[in-house]
This record gives sequence, structure tokens and C-alpha cells, in this order.
Amino acid sequence: MPLYKERIKNSVFPVIGEGDHYAKIMFVGEAPGKNEAATGRPFCGASGKVLDKLLESVGILRKDVYVTNIVKDRPPMNRDPFPHEIEAYAPYLDQQIKIIKPETIATLGRFSMDYIMKKFGLENNLKSISQMHGKIFDAKIATSGTVKIIPLYHPAVAVYNGGMKDALTKDFQILKNFK
Ligand code: URA
Repeated sequence: MPLYKERIKNSVFPVIGEGDHYAKIMFVGEAPGKNEAATGRPFCGASGKVLDKLLESVGILRKDVYVTNIVKDRPPMNRDPFPHEIEAYAPYLDQQIKIIKPETIATLGRFSMDYIMKKFGLENNLKSISQMHGKIFDAKIATSGTVKIIPLYHPAVAVYNGGMKDALTKDFQILKNFK
């Protein structure tokens, strides 16, 4: 069943994105979870709390960035999105990138990392997220020159794994240079 049908079945919302339409930094997560689908807002549950703390740690206000996901409807039971679902929602993310023209795209988790790296012709640089996180890649963006791509771990990993939380906190420091 297509994910959007969950909206009617479970009275939930699509989660398009939220933030400053002139943001320099765009965060791209995976897909809405339960709280997000209930409210229509990205990263407003447990992962969102982690994201808010990480932003605070580098003096970035959430209202000054744009936060979205690659998949705009919640996969049942928070399962991983299927490739055909990513393909179906990607054009919406592509349009958001065109409109907002971020200088930096920080991907959160491996699904958005894979999609964004491939979208910007950087597929040859793709490795596992444990090898990619915290690195900075330069890419061309047709409408606005260049864009930096910074793969980061997904904030959800920090909820369960202290080591990864430290890595994520350290990686966020990089964003200070791009705010
Ligand atoms: N996880 C995501 O990837 N996105 C959200 O919006 C919430 C949790």
C-alpha cells in the first residue's frame, strides 16, 4: 500500500518540512515517525529532541535552518523506507532544494546520505556511514553554484548509543563554519 494512504487510514499528516525558506543549512532526515505524522512537523519526537540539543550545542537556532526528510509519509512501524518509496518522494525533496538553495545540506542517516550523494554525482565517494560521517563534500547545484554536503549520523542513533552521540556532537561542530 502506498505510504500516503496511511493519512486516511490513520488520520495522520504528511510531513513536508519546516524552517527558514532562506536557510543556509538544510537537514535531510529519513522519514517521519509517529509524533511527526501526528503533527505534520519533522523531528518533533525523541530524535527531534536530540537534534534540537545538537543545534543548541553549536549555537544554531532551529528556526534559522530548514529541516525535512526524504520520505514525506510515515512508514508503518517506522520500518526502513523501500527504494521505490524513496524514488516516489525524491522529486519533492529535489524541489525543496531548488527553492531553498541551501549552501549546506547535512544528511541525517544513510538513506538521505545515499540519495543526496547520488543526486549530486558523488556516488563514487559513497562508503558506509561510519566512514562518511563528518566529511565535507563539494557539489554543484544547477540553480545556485555550489553546495557542501555533510553526511551525519541520524540523531536516533544517539538515543541508544552513547559512542555515536559523541561522534554526532563532534561532527556538529563542523556546522559552525557554515551557519
Ligand atoms: N526521523 C526522521 O528521519 N525524521 C523525522 O522527522 C523524525 C524522525
